[in-house]
Amino acid sequence: MLYQNLHIEIDNGIAVITISREKALNALNSQTMLELRYFFGTEGPEMEGLKGVVLTGAGEKAFVAGADITEFRDLDAAQGAAFAKRGQDIFFLIERFSKPVIAAVNGFALGGGCELAMACHLRVAGERARFGQPEVNLGIIPGYGGTQRLVQYIGKSKALELLMTADMIDAAEALRLGLVNYVVPAGEEVTKAKELIEKITTKAPVAIAKVIESVNALFEDGIDGFATEIDAFGACCDTEDFREGATAFVEKRKANFLGK
Ligand code: COA
Repeated sequence: MLYQNLHIEIDNGIAVITISREKALNALNSQTMLELRYFFGTEGPEMEGLKGVVLTGAGEKAFVAGADITEFRDLDAAQGAAFAKRGQDIFFLIERFSKPVIAAVNGFALGGGCELAMACHLRVAGERARFGQPEVNLGIIPGYGGTQRLVQYIGKSKALELLMTADMIDAAEALRLGLVNYVVPAGEEVTKAKELIEKITTKAPVAIAKVIESVNALFEDGIDGFATEIDAFGACCDTEDFREGATAFVEKRKANFLGK
């Protein structure tokens, strides 16, 4: 795929994806969503050697200021539902990606931008980042999972407040509420996200994938998370990395994991 709106740089196994529509504050138009679907939906052998992904926005002002309002203002009910479903499916690909995906939030993360950050496994905010779900200002609600994931991260009471008032919160408040993992000085978001990926990369890759799968299971309808954890634990026991990890512990040395 020839990427138009995603600038992808792979450095030492870490893909830094910069959403690059700076003039529209990196708003997610359909082409950008298509490119995200292509990247995260292609978890094939070509992804081998990939340690993780950092998602950020071009420029200093915005991570992503929402879905592109110019594209969805004329939708009817059926088209609107299809639009939301398509977005949710793409964000599920991110949430279920087997390697860590970290949002490096460098500015406004509003509407679909806040939802995109929430679909990532972890979030690092620059101190100028702002978060919000302002959809009710437009007469709609979040459609890319915002009503669900915001509750998961910050609880029903505060989530309802933000969803109904359309208020924005700053990075410090997002940290206090548990919406982001770290706040760093502006400009250091990607570096911190890469550091986190490097740390996670020292662990057994299959175990990391199983952690993601098991935690996600808590929030999936009709799936028993405890049962998922049992299966995932069993699958980890079957890996070479488990033998290596346990042997390295006994031998008092660092484990050398191969991802098998
Ligand atoms: N979709 C499409 N275009 C967007 C956009 C979005 N979600 N958010 C910003 N833009 C565009 C603006 O239309 C403007 O384009 P223009 O220069 O051609 O007029 C450009 O990005 C810059 O935005 P602007 O509003 O002029 O910047 P600002 O500093 O005054 O305000 C925001 C910044 C983020 C507060 C404001 O742009 C905003 O409220 N955006 C919409 C946020 C939103 O409702 N998101 C949810 C959508 S579901």
